[in-house]
Amino acid sequence: MKLGERLKAVADMVPAGVTLADIGTDHAYLPIYLVEQRIICCAIAGDVHHGPYLSAKNAVAAVNLEQKISVRLGDGLAVLAPGEADVAVIAGIGGANIIDIMSSSPAVMATLKRIILQPMIAAALVRNWLQANRWQIIDEQLVQEEGRLYQIIAAEPGDSLPIDPVLCEIGPLLWQTRHPLLKQHIYELMSHLKGVLSAMEGSAAAINSAKYNEFVRKLRELEDKYACL
Ligand SMILES: C[S@@+](CC[C@H](N)C(=O)[O-])C[C@H]1O[C@@H](n2cnc3c(N)ncnc32)[C@H](O)[C@@H]1O
Repeated sequence: MKLGERLKAVADMVPAGVTLADIGTDHAYLPIYLVEQRIICCAIAGDVHHGPYLSAKNAVAAVNLEQKISVRLGDGLAVLAPGEADVAVIAGIGGANIIDIMSSSPAVMATLKRIILQPMIAAALVRNWLQANRWQIIDEQLVQEEGRLYQIIAAEPGDSLPIDPVLCEIGPLLWQTRHPLLKQHIYELMSHLKGVLSAMEGSAAAINSAKYNEFVRKLRELEDKYACL
């Protein structure tokens, strides 16, 4: 199994020897890769939809790993008993859905030693949730694949110092380490916000809303950070 850049960066954050739960596994590429490479010995691969669940089951059977990778049909972390996995990956899903998955299973979350998240959108929401729920961000990565930038966040239980709101948008560790793709990342965040603001400018009510002012302030803060690079 050969992984693309995005899933390889996720795999690189999985510590050797853990029992992994890959939630929203789809094709099960990640657990298959990690077991084949002998980085981990066993995994649970969960998906809420029947098609991806079957595709994971077939992929695992095709490489004879049924004894090592348990493929389960179910919603989020509900496919796990507390303590069954050490590390959970939730990748390729929107930030709000990731938050729903984490919030819905507090007993399972309480037994995880690390979570690795790759939100497709709304990474700032995810960082805010982690901070509010006493998960400390311990690693962040940016990866470019087929012209798109992806953010990957690893967190472990623990308190962190409050994260500046603009760094919640950018990624506190991406900023701290001056990640090589940081400038492009902030540029994309600014472009997205400019698009949202220009759409809002079509309506007088929207321009006078608190949201509009919040987005203007956010854009200025991002521009300040960009100017520092
Ligand atoms: C785009 S795929 C990502 C697959 C893989 N994780 C990756 O990053 O390449 C998203 C998968 O998440 C699954 N999914 C979405 N919400 C879910 C949930 N609440 N619980 C489990 N799986 C979910 C979907 O069925 C889909 O197979």
